[in-house]
Amino acid sequence: AVTRTFSIIKPDATRRNLTGAVTKMLEDAGLRVVASKRIHMTKDQAEGFYAVHKERPFFGELVDFMTSGPVVVQVLEGEDAVKRNRDIMGATNPADAADGTIRKTFAESIEANSVHGSDSDENAAIEIDFFFDKDEIVG
Ligand code: CMP
Repeated sequence: AVTRTFSIIKPDATRRNLTGAVTKMLEDAGLRVVASKRIHMTKDQAEGFYAVHKERPFFGELVDFMTSGPVVVQVLEGEDAVKRNRDIMGATNPADAADGTIRKTFAESIEANSVHGSDSDENAAIEIDFFFDKDEIVG
């Protein structure tokens, strides 16, 4: 089925001017950008978005990193969008990511790993709602 997922192009990628290169890999993987905006996340936004990781030892660093520069938040649409996006992103740790994936190609570290993507349809809906109003999504 055609579904939607939520993606973030992270500060390590925007800093290196890779917004287009990352988006091209998403598009080449069969995903369509139906919403996109460049924002500088506030600490509150980053803490809220990553609330599920609050107890993790890396939480503070993760929030600092995600607020260290601009990000591009996107809604992606396509056949099995969550899985399609996860496949093209590759493993969280670039050292484990397969050749040809975004993280293998661009990520600097497990933290500065260039992209985020939703892990389920349920979380995709929550994450899309966190950053986008309905009228900002144009399918
Ligand atoms: P993301 O898919 O955005 O979800 C949570 C993020 O936390 C993850 O990508 C990484 O950027 C980061 N992360 C996960 N594990 C670690 C770790 N062990 N150390 C630092 N950052 C991590």
